[in-house]
Amino acid sequence: GEGLATYDPGFVNTASCRSAVTFIDGDAGILEYRGYPIEQLAEHSTFLEVAYLLLNGDLPTEAELEEWVHQITIHTFLHENVKQLMQGYRYDAHPMGMLMSSVSALSTFYPDAVKIADVDNRQLQITRLIAKMPTLGAFAFRHAQGKPYVYPDNRLSYVENFLAMLFKMSEPTYAADPRLVKALDILLILHADHEQNCSTNAVRSVGSSQVDPYSAVAAGIGALYGPLHGGANEAVLKMLRRIGSVDQIPAFIEGVKAGKEKLMGFGHRVYKNFDPRATIIKKACDDVFAVTGVNPLLEIAQELERIALEDEYFVKRKLYPNVDFYSGLIYEALQFPPEMFTVLFAIGRTPGWLAQWSELVQDKEQKIARPKQIYTGHRTREFVPMAER
Ligand code: SDX
Repeated sequence: GEGLATYDPGFVNTASCRSAVTFIDGDAGILEYRGYPIEQLAEHSTFLEVAYLLLNGDLPTEAELEEWVHQITIHTFLHENVKQLMQGYRYDAHPMGMLMSSVSALSTFYPDAVKIADVDNRQLQITRLIAKMPTLGAFAFRHAQGKPYVYPDNRLSYVENFLAMLFKMSEPTYAADPRLVKALDILLILHADHEQNCSTNAVRSVGSSQVDPYSAVAAGIGALYGPLHGGANEAVLKMLRRIGSVDQIPAFIEGVKAGKEKLMGFGHRVYKNFDPRATIIKKACDDVFAVTGVNPLLEIAQELERIALEDEYFVKRKLYPNVDFYSGLIYEALQFPPEMFTVLFAIGRTPGWLAQWSELVQDKEQKIARPKQIYTGHRTREFVPMAER
């Protein structure tokens, strides 16, 4: 159709996949969801509207959005058994480990999810998972804090409900500051999809075997958990805290250049000039800190960025702040502990994972994942009897 990108058919056999969901130009710092620039979506849209866009290919009408939000809202509750599963974890269990296993457990609560050829069933499972991710994340957080679970309150919006399930204590209703709700909604939009990143590749690879979507998304959560991927936002805060003060930055930078460690939150497989999401998040920092007070680590982050962007070591390697460099500062200002940062990334990325999964299972030309290898081992040789070894 008009406006759609074209490609060389031969390319499909060498690429990992063919997709129409998200477009990135790493050199120009362009990120578009279904053709809409991330800057416009962050300014004018909402996370659930963006989730609809990613899954359905176009922005919803008012009636379509209203029905979509209603469907998500009625599915925010969790089976009692899932809560019991959560209560079985040690109190120091990492919330990402709890999220990964509870999402895969959902495949046992909804056995119909394997009927992936049925469009209504796919839609139901997709809606269920987007609705339940904040509840699962909040329950994991409350478990780690040794606090009782707060049940979803369906009079609240998606983000307000999430914040209430996390932070509500004895007050009758938890009223989050609307400026913080807006900032978190924008952060979820920025994390919603990102083409064929490590975790999306895991979802598509596992999903290509025609397993249910819960099992495929659980694989994506596992990939996102790693410090080189979604776990970087947690690692950035630990790095800033370890640096401790601006005058310690030169020694830290020397350590990075000596190869002792990476500058977490910097670099990207695709963006080689700047990550457009980092630019938007930096602006969101100002909005959040106007409410919460400035995060004292911001000064270290800004000085670290200034020094790194002038240093030949980083410039030569095209290393710039990525989406994870500033997001953790906002999450911490919103009272999230570092181990919850990647859970927030997973909640944001779920519509993207599911849009990519749904596209894959409907594309008859995309087969089961079987990446090519470069063989570097021995070729044929004779078996050696024990006496001759
Ligand atoms: C995300 O793919 C996506 O889209 C991911 C993501 C998404 O939305 O899904 O954008 C989210 O995962 C963002 C990235 C979060 N990770 C981090 O911030 C961890 C720190 N970054 C690095 O680990 C690294 O930059 C990666 C993993 C992000 C990218 O790795 P690349 O492109 O494979 O980089 P590379 O290994 O080719 O680096 C080239 C050189 C190497 O040095 P030399 O061997 O040439 O001397 O740059 C160095 C690397 O050692 N380098 C870094 C560095 N990143 C790369 N050196 C110091 N600090 C860093 N952060």
